[in-house]
Amino acid sequence: MDPSFWKGRRVFLTGHTGFKGGWLALWLQHLGAQVTGFSLEPPTRPSLFEVALVGRGMRSLQGDIRDADALTQAMKSAQPEVVMHLAAQALVRPSYQDPHGTYTTNVIGTLNVLLAARQAASLRAMVVVTTDKCYENREWERGYREEDPMGGHDPYSSSKGCAELLTASMRASYFPPAEHARHGVAVASARAGNVIGGGDWAVDRLVPDILRGVQATGVAELRHPSAIRPWQHVLDPLAGYLILAERLHAQGPAFGEAWNFGPEEADAWSVRQVADRVVSAWGDGAGCRESGGGGPHEAHWLKLDASKARQRLGWRPRWDVGQAIDRTVAWARAHARGGDMRKFTLEQIVEYGTCM
Ligand SMILES: NC(=O)c1ccc[n+]([C@@H]2O[C@H](COP(=O)([O-])OP(=O)(O)OC[C@H]3O[C@@H](n4cnc5c(N)ncnc54)[C@H](O)[C@@H]3O)[C@@H](O)[C@H]2O)c1
Repeated sequence: MDPSFWKGRRVFLTGHTGFKGGWLALWLQHLGAQVTGFSLEPPTRPSLFEVALVGRGMRSLQGDIRDADALTQAMKSAQPEVVMHLAAQALVRPSYQDPHGTYTTNVIGTLNVLLAARQAASLRAMVVVTTDKCYENREWERGYREEDPMGGHDPYSSSKGCAELLTASMRASYFPPAEHARHGVAVASARAGNVIGGGDWAVDRLVPDILRGVQATGVAELRHPSAIRPWQHVLDPLAGYLILAERLHAQGPAFGEAWNFGPEEADAWSVRQVADRVVSAWGDGAGCRESGGGGPHEAHWLKLDASKARQRLGWRPRWDVGQAIDRTVAWARAHARGGDMRKFTLEQIVEYGTCM
């Protein structure tokens, strides 16, 4: 990653009031980018956006990506060189309760972002963020590769598979790599696994649920203790998105495709292993117990093969899952102590940057 690339760079970021978008907004601010965010209100209370004062160093717009006119206006006035699209209904369980809202946000919203981007004459690079769940899950033991088929059992996963297909179609239709000299825009999609880090208060995500449990009662409940997931610190995939955007900007169509950003093989831990590490890092006699499963369908086995990003982007994860959990628990501890969370979050970004 080249920090100087981002100095003064105009970036349009959707989802900046969310967990990953909040971290990315702070990282971009730290690098000196001119960031315009476009999102609904923070999806949780508390939120990283509020406790780390994310809106302070950027232009923060409140808007709905389903509103094509408002989005296009915002894009026109920001004239970004880079678009990072992270806004989404990002959870599996709410997608069963509101499939319509999930598909309209994740599919039509993504369509609107791609079409609005056509109005930004200055645009050079666009990264559309989806998920490892976009793949048709066959419970394979090998990691999913970029060319594997899209799918998705639940509405969230399927909506992200749709967003991938849509992004490929928009690229072919409006930003064809063969005509890059004419339009000058390169579009890629990015798929990452389960992300952990401070400032995530989403319900039904493992680490936030465990932290809520240990802070409330000293005991965390586990639904699917043997499920295997590829765990990584939020800064790892975000570093991948930043490197990808730089390459798209500098070298255009050679990088305009789909990319996996997953952890090392050894970081595919079971829910039980993650929970044990979180409660031991928290201390204070915290523990966890199985709550007997239940809930909607969840894939048991899901890993990503990120060898393409390693080989062609030179990206690799910096913090293993144990280090990622320790940073996450340290963040939660600092917040519980009433610390300055903007400063603390920026310090973790700097610490991460020094190992790049
Ligand atoms: N957190 C993870 O573990 C994980 C894993 C894989 C992929 N992802 C993807 O990364 C992205 C960010 O996820 P997150 O964890 O930060 O989610 P989040 O729920 O914390 O944040 C979602 C963001 O999208 C915004 N948003 C939602 N609907 C919107 C709409 N209709 N219009 C405008 N803004 C809207 C919210 O306001 C918020 O800023 C998503 O695309 C998600 O699918 C997340």
